[in-house]
Formats: sequence, C-alpha cells, structure tokens
Amino acid sequence: MYKKILIPIDGSEQSTEAALQGAELAQIIGATVTLFHVVPVLPVDRFRSIVIDEIKVQGKEILKQAEQDIAKFEVPVDTDMVPGHPADAIVLKARLEEYDLIIMGSKGLGAVKIYLLGSVSSTVSKHAHCSVLIVR
Ligand SMILES: Nc1ncnc2c1ncn2[C@@H]1O[C@H](COP(=O)(O)OP(=O)(O)O)[C@@H](O)[C@H]1O
Ligand SMILES: [Mg+2]
Repeated sequence: MYKKILIPIDGSEQSTEAALQGAELAQIIGATVTLFHVVPVLPVDRFRSIVIDEIKVQGKEILKQAEQDIAKFEVPVDTDMVPGHPADAIVLKARLEEYDLIIMGSKGLGAVKIYLLGSVSSTVSKHAHCSVLIVR
C-alpha cells in the first residue's frame, strides 16, 4: 500500500507528533520515511529572496532532532532540506519524487488558537497529488 511517506516538519510539537506517528505507521506497513524541512525564504523585492544562514542552521537542527526522535522505530529514514515556500515545496517534492502519503501536523510554529488548521497543512491538503494525513 503506502511505500514512501513524506513527513514535513517545522520543529513544532505537532510536527514532532506527526514524525512519531508517521515512523510508527511506516514500521507497521513496511514503508520508508523522509523528514523534510523547508527553510522559509524572505522576499527582498519582486524578483529576489534570501535565506538567512541562521535559519538554515536551525533547519538542520530540526531535522537532526526529529531523526533522533524516530530512531527507535528502525525504519529507513532520509532527510532533505530546501529553501522555498513551505506548502509549494512540499507539494512539489511529493509529486516529483512520487511519495504516496504525506503526514504532517495540523498546526505548526505559527500556531494561532482560533485557526483549526495552519496554512501550510491547509494548502498541502488541497493541492497534494497523494493522500495527506493531518495529525492532531
Ligand atoms: N517550513 C516547513 N517545513 C516543513 N514542514 C512544515 C513547515 N511549516 C509547516 N510545516 C508542516 O505543516 C504543519 C502545519 O504547520 P502550519 O500550517 O505552518 O501551521 P501554523 O500556521 O500553526 O504554523 C506542521 O506541523 C508541519 O508538519
Ligand atoms: Mg507555520
């Protein structure tokens, strides 16, 4: 059934939970897991955007931590980090690399209480080519 699971993470509690549940599910069904972090870019003007080095370093830490968190499940894991707009980058990677399931948190670092669903999970669930499991 599901063979390749993409788990987008931003370091939030909900994304950690998504990584744990995703890895446990992968162990049961025999799937592989990719932990994926999108380093948000800051627009400079209409044509240019930049990535701040400090944010890149944080991104690497987020991936390393999540990898440690799910190590106990002993599933094949790889990690990837790209600069970009989180929802677009997640949808694109899932399609290009033929993932068959995306598992992500309902909220993230920018959690605002009145919203039931963050903008990244909302956009990904609308535009992904594959199934999306949103962890609460
Ligand atoms: N920069 C990012 N890189 C990878 N995954 C992300 C990123 N931002 C958010 N996500 C994923 O989307 C989920 C929901 O986050 P988001 O929609 O941004 O909610 P919020 O508005 O509360 O920050 C997170 O739990 C995580 O799985
Ligand atoms: Mg967010």
